[in-house]
Amino acid sequence: MQDSKATHIGSPLTRVDGRLKVTGQAKYAGEFNVAGLIYGVIVSSTIAKGQITKIHTQEALAIPGVIRVFTHENRPPLPTFDRKYQDQDAPGGSPFRPLYNAQILFSGQPVALVTAETFELARYAASLIRVEYEVEAHRVGLREFRDRTHSPNTSKSGFKPPPKPWGSPDEAIAKAPVTVRAEYHTPVEHHNPMELFSTTVVRDEDGRLTIYDKTQGAPNNADWVSKVFGLSSNKIRLISPFVGGAFGSGLRPQYQLFFAVLAALELKRNVRVSLTRQQMFTFGHRPEAIHSFALGASTDGTLQSVIYDVISETSRNEDYVEVVVNWAGMLYQCDSVRLGHKVVALDVPTPMDMRAPGAAWGVYALESAIDEIAYASGIDPLQFRLKNYSEQDQTQQKPYSSKELRACYSQAAERFGWSRRSPAPRSMRDGRRLIGMGMATGIWEAMQKPAKAKAALGLDGRLTVSSATADIGTGTYTVMTQVAAETLGFNAADVTFKLGDSSLPEAPVEGGSATVASVGTAVQQACQKVRNRLVKIAISAPDSPVAGANPEDLAVADREIVHRHDPSRRISFQQVMRLGNVLHIEEKAAAFPRTLIQRRYTRCVHSAVFIEVAVDEELGTVEVTKVVSAVAGGRIINPKTARSQVLGSIVMGIGMALEEESHMDKRLGRFMNHDLSEYHVPVNADIHNIEVLFVEEKDDIVNPLGAKGLGEIGIVGVAAAVANAIFHATGVRVRDLPITIDKVMGGLRSEAIS
Ligand code: MOS
Repeated sequence: MQDSKATHIGSPLTRVDGRLKVTGQAKYAGEFNVAGLIYGVIVSSTIAKGQITKIHTQEALAIPGVIRVFTHENRPPLPTFDRKYQDQDAPGGSPFRPLYNAQILFSGQPVALVTAETFELARYAASLIRVEYEVEAHRVGLREFRDRTHSPNTSKSGFKPPPKPWGSPDEAIAKAPVTVRAEYHTPVEHHNPMELFSTTVVRDEDGRLTIYDKTQGAPNNADWVSKVFGLSSNKIRLISPFVGGAFGSGLRPQYQLFFAVLAALELKRNVRVSLTRQQMFTFGHRPEAIHSFALGASTDGTLQSVIYDVISETSRNEDYVEVVVNWAGMLYQCDSVRLGHKVVALDVPTPMDMRAPGAAWGVYALESAIDEIAYASGIDPLQFRLKNYSEQDQTQQKPYSSKELRACYSQAAERFGWSRRSPAPRSMRDGRRLIGMGMATGIWEAMQKPAKAKAALGLDGRLTVSSATADIGTGTYTVMTQVAAETLGFNAADVTFKLGDSSLPEAPVEGGSATVASVGTAVQQACQKVRNRLVKIAISAPDSPVAGANPEDLAVADREIVHRHDPSRRISFQQVMRLGNVLHIEEKAAAFPRTLIQRRYTRCVHSAVFIEVAVDEELGTVEVTKVVSAVAGGRIINPKTARSQVLGSIVMGIGMALEEESHMDKRLGRFMNHDLSEYHVPVNADIHNIEVLFVEEKDDIVNPLGAKGLGEIGIVGVAAAVANAIFHATGVRVRDLPITIDKVMGGLRSEAIS
């Protein structure tokens, strides 16, 4: 049964939550105010490694209005087993347990919670807590400890270890007439969402907790609370209706959640705990990494050997790994490939997924190295990529379910004006500004995870659809509304979509760009079930205008069931419900990936990004003057929110290329630029002309919606395209992100001297 008039999917519906956000009605976790709320402020360790020997709390406790100070010495019993602390996104190893014992694992580790009647009192009292330590030497800095690697524990969900080598990479590179050997460095970055992590816990008389928490996965955090505090799940409801940015930082429970729940349980009060901006630098970050490439090619630009090894940092207690190197075996056809990934354990918080984890870094290095070898073989960088285009995923020897990357290359090149580029580096100029054009490829996995949803149709004609997923600014509310409206022939205005609540049907964490594929499919199926119920009643009720019709001949549109061949035979949903004597039709669906079909294919979203930069020859400043990104993301559910997703990611890519870096004082083992005045992100003045194109791509395999997910693809490749454009502008190849003025100037000066 096909809908005759379903036009929601593919239309640029404006964000359904937009009005709530711009009028300040959208509430964030730290904004749910209730009577009798008390505040907790966290005290952070000042050392990176060692033991707490004494915590002095008397001075703080002497202040009227200070309620209690929680430390490892007076905490209630907590579970000992790792699995009790492991959340859905935990890597292998032993998760950090707040207040577990006297041991310090990283600088900024929370060591005490001060609770008071007001926030100001709590903050002041926290400043009076004195902690004595027995300091041990810490190990920080990946470059310093790059030879202390180990092979990572690969049990992290979603991690695909590097494939086994194929061909003979070492022989091939020894024989190759054109070679590039290069090392790239990518620094630590922090997510820095605008909204700080915050939790407000509200207790009812029976001791049940309503927890307002900033998270990308309400069920994940609710489960975690239930395991850590030994509470049955019906005692907890975790709510997160709006999230002020997260970029991966909300994929795991953050420690303010632990403290807020601990205090609420122990003090039997309503509690709020929020982190400071500085404390936002004391949990997971994008790990520092060193990328070593050796590429070999023939003189006609055929790739003959790819050797790519990555070393990245992890913590001492967990083995965090990302898919960094595999993309190098997926994007280009090559007969001899060897990929490897090792980690170094440092005294830092466990790194965490951030904005296309793995690909953002790996594809930066890969697409820089490919650019280098294209120049070395004297071939246009775009031509080089087309020449070595991979028709299948060599890492798994599988075809792609769809791959319109060629169309991305050609449409973006055309729109950008790549043909106007003069090939030689440093050959384009506008006054004292050197002009450069660079490009790169993007790739990200198109995943689908199991998810559930519920659809409820009332006699009032409203459809309410729900799932415990999240909207971290990505457009989930809007897109799910469209999928539901499309499936049931509804106006979007008559559909309400609910999310961010652990009491709703379970959904995975909103990550990996998998929400449309996963939750969207569940929403579609729940709505199909409602439709089937309506049709069943309509054809079986004797008084119905479509009584006895073949279901195949019926369509739904405008909240009516209509006979395709005789449109005069029609009945509204409300009439159907009256005929069937139902006030309410509610259906649940659990959507699973069609694994048998899917696993025969590699499923990826692709992009091509073209960037123009202007580099001031005397000042070394880089301006990204133009970006064109073409994305092959399957079916586009909403071109407006889709474009916004990719635009935002491109801005983050520019930040990654030119600005973002967390600086550590190695002596202290602490990140020092821990605020938004010193951790630089792009501002309006940094952003100029950005265009996003979606190329046509049909894919029946990825999921029933045919949509691939766009949350992360936009960032992948951007940093490489910027670096490649800077090389084209200046002849300077900076292999160390971010490409700051000093690095550009250093390169320009050594060029001038040589
Ligand atoms: Mo994303 S780093 O999967 O939130």
